[in-house]
Amino acid sequence: MIVANAADYATKHFDETLELLKGYLQIPAISCDERYFPDVEKLANHLVDALKQRGFADAQKVCLERALPLVIASDMSAGPEAKTIVIYGHFDLQPVEGEDWDSDPHEPEVRNGRLYARGSADDMGGWVSHLAAIDAWRATNDAKLPVNVKFVLEGEEEIGSPNLERYMDEYPDAFEADVMILTDCENPSEEIPGLTVSLRGLYEVSVSCKALSGDVHSGLWGNMGPDAGNALTLLIARCLDENGRMKLGRMEPPESWRARAREVPLNDEVIRDGANLLKDAKVLPESGLAPAEWLWRQPALTILSTTLPRPGQEKNALRAEASAKLSIRLAPGQTREEMRAYLNEAFQNPPPGVVVELHEKESGAESWLYEPKGPAFEAVDRAYEAVWGIKPLEVGIGGSIPFVAIFGRRFSDLPLILNGVMDPKTGAHGPNESMSLEVFRKAICANVHLYDELSRI
Ligand code: BES
Ligand code: MN
Ligand code: MN
Repeated sequence: MIVANAADYATKHFDETLELLKGYLQIPAISCDERYFPDVEKLANHLVDALKQRGFADAQKVCLERALPLVIASDMSAGPEAKTIVIYGHFDLQPVEGEDWDSDPHEPEVRNGRLYARGSADDMGGWVSHLAAIDAWRATNDAKLPVNVKFVLEGEEEIGSPNLERYMDEYPDAFEADVMILTDCENPSEEIPGLTVSLRGLYEVSVSCKALSGDVHSGLWGNMGPDAGNALTLLIARCLDENGRMKLGRMEPPESWRARAREVPLNDEVIRDGANLLKDAKVLPESGLAPAEWLWRQPALTILSTTLPRPGQEKNALRAEASAKLSIRLAPGQTREEMRAYLNEAFQNPPPGVVVELHEKESGAESWLYEPKGPAFEAVDRAYEAVWGIKPLEVGIGGSIPFVAIFGRRFSDLPLILNGVMDPKTGAHGPNESMSLEVFRKAICANVHLYDELSRI
């Protein structure tokens, strides 16, 4: 059994894979901060080397103007009759500034069966799980792969993939395939693998309030004229219910989703732990929806920043102007145009005398809803069952991934398999991000099986 041997090899050589991953995690490839651009380049170079070593002779770092690099590579040796898969991952990281870590975020450390480092699960562990699966196939099968494989590794996902479409236009061959495996997602638990079928969108908008032509004494004029800070908070409050949840644009999820949302083990304990709730705090009430429905299928709002006076800027005055940047997660199937209309409606009749303006950020992410059907997904089921003992659960993700909608639009007739190595304990984008070693091992072995299963569809 070639596959079983390969999966066995992957498990036996797991420590080597871990060392490979640790090496990558020491490079702070943070894409939103130009001070780290050389590290993004450096990591891209390492990846080219790694892919060349693994038989991807054409591996290269490509770089468009005003963009961070993309790494592409292919091994078409399975032949023209064989299936071709694209494996997508991102090697850029979120920043760590201002976060309180228990260990150096760029010095990976294993504690209690988890690997702690920025990017461990989002997303370095994701694509390294494929490098390891390739190693296993090479070592046990006369160096032959059962399918043609292309790697596309991006260095700009964490800034919203602003140049991915340009790369697709410039290097169309790198994206030509029968099946896309997009490895940047989450599993419901360390025991239950996930197949992601919906993503929330991301829409950023700033609300600005102009209340006066200049600040005035709050004792002389308080209650006589509007205060921009008060007006801003009143407007934001119009978007929220009494639990602090977004109340504009609520969706009615289909019945089939309601059952699915109840299947995931998103209980109070997982929520309390994963969402960093205060000790003894109650989780938000269900208010008629399962927690996963709130997370996957409803819009949500957070304040990214405001111009409200900060400590040290106190003065007893009505303020003339105030604004806030809001980040809104769009429900799957919801568009930014729809959300814009809800906001405009909610902000009609602002507090008297206040002029309100909305400014949208152009970038963001479309939401995504998918129905996994056909032989590729039957192959996924079989591969996961062989390793995890169960088929993957179809899950939604509360986060957003701009590249997925781009792939969905461009390759609408191809199966898009969204998997990954995150779990509810991962804490992506926060302090002490980590990846479960057992999830990582199972992901590698499932990849080994998946290539085999896909070769026979
Ligand atoms: N891998 C994440 C998305 C994700 C988060 C998947 C949680 C599964 C669970 C991705 O790297 C990400 O962080 N996306 C950003 C998009 C933004 C940078 C445009 C997000 O969701 O904030
Ligand atoms: Mn990611
Ligand atoms: Mn991320």
